[in-house]
Amino acid sequence: MNENLAELYRMVEEQCKHYDKYERVFNGQTWNYHVLPVVKNSVRFARERGADAEVVEVAALFHDWANLVDFEKYSEVHHIASGELAEPILIKYGYSQEFIDKVKRCIFSHRGREVKEKISIEEVCLADADAMVHIENVFEIIIWRGMRGDTVEQANNFVKSKLARSFAKLSDYAKESIKEKYEAALKIFY
Ligand SMILES: [Fe+2]
Ligand SMILES: [Fe+2]
Repeated sequence: MNENLAELYRMVEEQCKHYDKYERVFNGQTWNYHVLPVVKNSVRFARERGADAEVVEVAALFHDWANLVDFEKYSEVHHIASGELAEPILIKYGYSQEFIDKVKRCIFSHRGREVKEKISIEEVCLADADAMVHIENVFEIIIWRGMRGDTVEQANNFVKSKLARSFAKLSDYAKESIKEKYEAALKIFY
């Protein structure tokens, strides 16, 4: 990994800690159980499916950036704001405008409900990776709901429907790779 990219990893990891505090979850939880696994899944999907892995990796790093900066302000528009806020950072680190535009497009369409037809394979890789992590790390979501003060019933209902929504968002390719875990995970809910 080149030094610039390593620096971006550190920057996002630090910002995740800010969000951990806001969410009152354990220090490192957001990075270790959401952002970093999204990056890893994205890059794996990009390699397997012939997408531009560099674009996908940077997009995955910054896909929820605006939420990490200020959740209350950006949550509803974080798919737009994350790209906008990441742009000056990426310019500073020497990325070309063409590269940045591709990153922003991926970030924009990671929010499933925004774009029904994803245009590029890079966009599909990030959206798949993001939704898949909710299934892979379902345990973290249960803990998060508990820490927020949900009752057993509230957490059960929330997480169960989140799992179903995440699975429905996936491309057929990603569905195939997570199907077994998804079906197993569903069995623990009431
Ligand atoms: Fe997001
Ligand atoms: Fe995300």
